[in-house]
Amino acid sequence: MELCLWFNVILLTSVVSANKFCFPGCSCEIESFGLFDSFSLTKVDCSGVGNHIVPVSIPLDTSYLDLSYNKLEKINESVLSGPGYTTLVNLNLSYNRLVKISSTAFSKLRYLESLDLSHNQLEALPDQSFFYSPLVELDLSFNSLQEIQIGAFTSKSNGKAININLSNNLIKSISRRPDDPVPNIRNLDLSGNQLRSVHGLQGIPLQYLNLDRNPISKIEENNFLGLKGLTHLSLSQMENLGEIAPRSFQDLPALQILDFSSNQNLRILSKDVFLGLNSLQELNLLNSGVASLPKDTLQHLPSMKSITWGKNIHCVKTMKESQFHLQNGVVRREVLLCRDGQGAVSAQDVL
Ligand SMILES: *[C@@H]1O[C@H](CO)[C@@H](O)[C@H](O)[C@H]1NC(C)=O
Ligand SMILES: *[C@@H]1O[C@H](CO)[C@@H](O)[C@H](O)[C@H]1NC(C)=O
Ligand SMILES: *[C@@H]1O[C@H](CO)[C@@H](O)[C@H](O)[C@H]1NC(C)=O
Repeated sequence: MELCLWFNVILLTSVVSANKFCFPGCSCEIESFGLFDSFSLTKVDCSGVGNHIVPVSIPLDTSYLDLSYNKLEKINESVLSGPGYTTLVNLNLSYNRLVKISSTAFSKLRYLESLDLSHNQLEALPDQSFFYSPLVELDLSFNSLQEIQIGAFTSKSNGKAININLSNNLIKSISRRPDDPVPNIRNLDLSGNQLRSVHGLQGIPLQYLNLDRNPISKIEENNFLGLKGLTHLSLSQMENLGEIAPRSFQDLPALQILDFSSNQNLRILSKDVFLGLNSLQELNLLNSGVASLPKDTLQHLPSMKSITWGKNIHCVKTMKESQFHLQNGVVRREVLLCRDGQGAVSAQDVL
C-alpha cells in the first residue's frame, strides 16, 4: 500500500522550474512528469513583448509557444523555424495584426497540433496553408476572412480529424474545387459570418456544424447533402431565417441535436421538414417564432427525447404504462411531458 502511494506521488508530481536559457522578454517553464521525470515539456510564453520578438529562438524541447499580443504583421517560414520549432505542438499567434500568411509559413512545424490565429486581420488563406502540420485544433475566429476555399485545409496526413473555428469573420462564400481532396474536418464553427446560403460543405465528414448568426433566409433541400456523420447542427439567432424547405435534413441520418433557438422570424415548421431525422434526440426552439408543431411530428422522430420551446418550456418524452387492456397486459405509450418555470404545461399547446 505504502509503496503504491509512493509510486503515485512520483508519477503525479510535476516539477515546474525556470529555464536559464530563455529568450529575453519571454518566460520559460519546464514541466516534468512521469516516473523519474522521464517526460518534460517546455512552455515558452512570449506574449506582449512586442514585434521585435521574432524570430525568437526557443529551447529544443519546446512544446508550447505563446506569441500572442505582439503586434506581429507578418510571419513566414524563416520566422517559424529553427531547432525548437520542429517539435512544437502548440502555437499561439492570437491578438496580433496578421493580415496575410504565406502558404509555407507553417511548413516547418511538422508536429503542430494546435494553432491559434484568432483576433488578427487575416483576409485570405492561401491554398494548403496548413499542409505539413498534423493540426487538430485551428482557431481562425475574429479575423476578416471573406472567402473560404476548402482546399486551404487540405493536409498531408489527412488521417487526423481537425476542428476549425471560423466564427466572427466576414465569410460570404465557401467553395471546394472538384479536384481538391475532401479535408477531414470534424467540428466547424461558422457562426457570426455573412453567409446567405449553405454550399461547399458536401461530403466533409463533419460531426458538428454551427451556422448561427448568418444572414441565411432559407434552408434549401440540398443544403446538407452528404453530411452523413453530422450529429449536432446549430442554426440559431438567424434574424433573416423565415423558411425551411421540406426534406432539408433528410440526408442527416446521424443528427442528434438540432438547434433553431432565437429564430424569431421562423414561424412554421411543416412535418416534412423532419423527414429522415431518425436519430434526432433534442430539438431546441427556445425563443423562436414557431408556436406549434404539426400533430404527428413525433412519429417522424423516433429517437426524440426532448424539445425546448417558447420562453422556457421544456418537454421530455416519457414512456407511460397503463393496465387498461387486460388481455394485452401492460400497454406502453409515449407521451410528452412539458414544464415551464412555474410547473406542468399541457403538451397539447406544443403539438
Ligand atoms: C520573413 O519575415 C521576416 C520578418 O518579417 C523578414 O525579415 C524576412 O525577410 C522574411 N523572409 C522571407 C523569406 O520572406
Ligand atoms: C492564446 O492566447 C490567448 C491570449 O492569451 C488566450 O486567450 C487563448 O486561450 C490562447 N489559445 C490557446 C489555444 O491556448
Ligand atoms: C469558436 O470561437 C468563438 C469565439 O472565441 C467561441 O465563442 C466558440 O465557442 C468557438 N467554437 C467552438 C466550437 O469551440
